Amino acid sequence: MSEGKSTTGGGAVESVQQETRKFPPPAGFASGAHINSMEQYEQMHRESLEDPDKFWGEKAAELHWFKKWSRVLEWNLPDAKWFIGGKLNACYNCVDRQVDAGQGDKTAIVWEGEPIENGQPEVRNLTYNDLKRETSKFANVLKSLGVKKGDRVTLYMPMVPELAIAMLACARVGAAHSIIFGGFSASAIKDRVEDAHSKVIITADGGWRRGKIVPLKQNVDDALEMTDVVENVVTLKRTDNEVAMKAGRDQWWHELMDGASDDCPCEEMDSEDLLFILYTSGTTGKPKGIMHTTGGYMVYTYLTSKYVFDLHPENEDELYWCTADIGWITGHSYIIYGILPNAVPTLMYEGGPNFPAEDRFWDIVERHKVTKFYTAPTAIRAFMKWGEEHVKKHDLSSLQLLGTVGEPINPEAWMWYHRMIGSERCPIVDTWWQTETGGHMLTPLPGATTAVPGSATRPFFGADVAVVEKDGTEVGPNESGLLVIRKPWPSMLRGIYGDRQRFIDTYWSEIEGFYFAGDGARKDGDGNIWVTGRVDDVINVSGHRLGTAEVESALVSHPSVAEAAVVGIPHEIKGTGIAAFVTLKGGQEPTDALKKELIAHVGKEIGAIAKPDQLRFAEGVPKTRSGKIMRRLLRELATSGEVKGDTTTLEDFNVIAKLKGKDEG
Ligand code: WT7
Repeated sequence: MSEGKSTTGGGAVESVQQETRKFPPPAGFASGAHINSMEQYEQMHRESLEDPDKFWGEKAAELHWFKKWSRVLEWNLPDAKWFIGGKLNACYNCVDRQVDAGQGDKTAIVWEGEPIENGQPEVRNLTYNDLKRETSKFANVLKSLGVKKGDRVTLYMPMVPELAIAMLACARVGAAHSIIFGGFSASAIKDRVEDAHSKVIITADGGWRRGKIVPLKQNVDDALEMTDVVENVVTLKRTDNEVAMKAGRDQWWHELMDGASDDCPCEEMDSEDLLFILYTSGTTGKPKGIMHTTGGYMVYTYLTSKYVFDLHPENEDELYWCTADIGWITGHSYIIYGILPNAVPTLMYEGGPNFPAEDRFWDIVERHKVTKFYTAPTAIRAFMKWGEEHVKKHDLSSLQLLGTVGEPINPEAWMWYHRMIGSERCPIVDTWWQTETGGHMLTPLPGATTAVPGSATRPFFGADVAVVEKDGTEVGPNESGLLVIRKPWPSMLRGIYGDRQRFIDTYWSEIEGFYFAGDGARKDGDGNIWVTGRVDDVINVSGHRLGTAEVESALVSHPSVAEAAVVGIPHEIKGTGIAAFVTLKGGQEPTDALKKELIAHVGKEIGAIAKPDQLRFAEGVPKTRSGKIMRRLLRELATSGEVKGDTTTLEDFNVIAKLKGKDEG
């Protein structure tokens, strides 16, 4: 943390301070909900913290175990072990268990592709039987490539059923997957396969996004020019674009699957065996490989899915849709691992929200009769901007519950979601959590909690979330503080892959004895927690996490750049946008063409989401006497063009004057 309790977040922060509207659970909803009163919530929450062995022991028994655990929890700060000695398999719980229970013919995944031909999108329904057969076959393919229990396999794929099949097949054989979001660049792939020592990549020729082909295989080829750790590349045919196939390294998915046996029992995994690595941005230039293990992660994502989305497999109409990409933690936990063990069908959509038109999501909701819908504030703000007419064209009466995740939701967006999408009838769950937490930490329970627009309200069972001072004492009502988690929870990260010290420094050193989330928050007089945004050098662009240092090092890797400073600034749709200040090397001309080139360069180094919204040339970057970039000043400048804040630690007062003179944003 470089600047205390300042926030890099968007516009939500100010407006939530005033919010007083309250929305108790709709009566019709509460009566049928798993948790239907605040008393029930409070009693269960108390029990989950006071007697975690009993609480989590009972809940874990709702999943399938090859062997029961001997103890629920072992806690040696900062290391937690859950369900010690227990043996299970994540794929078994997602797939085989439903087949065993005679539900093999029930739909597990409803998939819709992006392209529309003759007025119809491509739709595929996969049953649990289908998933068992396909994951078994692909598990055998992985084995034939030499993949063994404990190995890491990289997936860089579009949102197609084969992505779900590949990840579940990894779990089936006990290999950890490392999924890279399809929007990331070749250099991002290179960094991640090297960090994970991943010898196998599963990809596709391309993926559809807003009518265009994302050249996934090409990006993999470019990445593999820069590294030689990868021995095998499996390519799924999706878009039929021309791709290069390198003999001895590259094979087609369909050719390998053709000959594969559909018999492959699930590997018995220890509770604490690695299930996956997922890279996320931190405060340095290098992304962190967050590690999640099998037992605790499966129990926690299963239970949060059940209670937060109030899933009812016995209801034949139940259809859950999370609009995230599986390449993010939201997709891991709440498209696949938490939802499938609940035996409720999960919808996967391949493409963009505005293709072919701005009503695509509502068209999907209407055609498939989605009952539970989970999306991000940035998407809601885009829908607001696109206009109500796109929503009004569709019958959304199948919807029963709405969810949001990724960043603080501004109350105006919450109200619009409530009114326009939920017809004032659906409860909204605003879920605060992180890649590191694995599952929801703060969230209303839809049948119990009174929602307040802009607040993620209360901790989930087992979550001991508090707002504290730096010394760990709780702040008073409505005072700002740091968001911490004081006790271990089942799906907490087990570390950063290959970097023990960074795990300790990042999460366990800021506030003694507690997990520090990197967010600021306050708790109101009713006990609701309001997350105000990151307090570290991480920015949240459209609900996606980026390190300012990551964008800075991408800029500095360009031959014309001497130095760069990056800050988050309020952005109407993205929540937070990116402003970059760039100092050029001697002799370089600050032209518009170079500005464009630098923005494109960041896209190439990291991915399109990291492209700066503003880029200014500056003769110097303001720093403190100890050499830290004064981001607060830059933020003020990028937002308002003025600097009013305290500048007493500025190393060179002149820099600010020069920055203002050079404003080319
Ligand atoms: C950061 C985690 C968890 C999946 C999506 C992002 C912010 C997330 C909320 C929310 C306020 C939120 C936090 C957090 N965040 N959800 N409901 N209200 N802030 O996962 O990339 O790991 O980012 O997203 O700042 O620390 P992530």
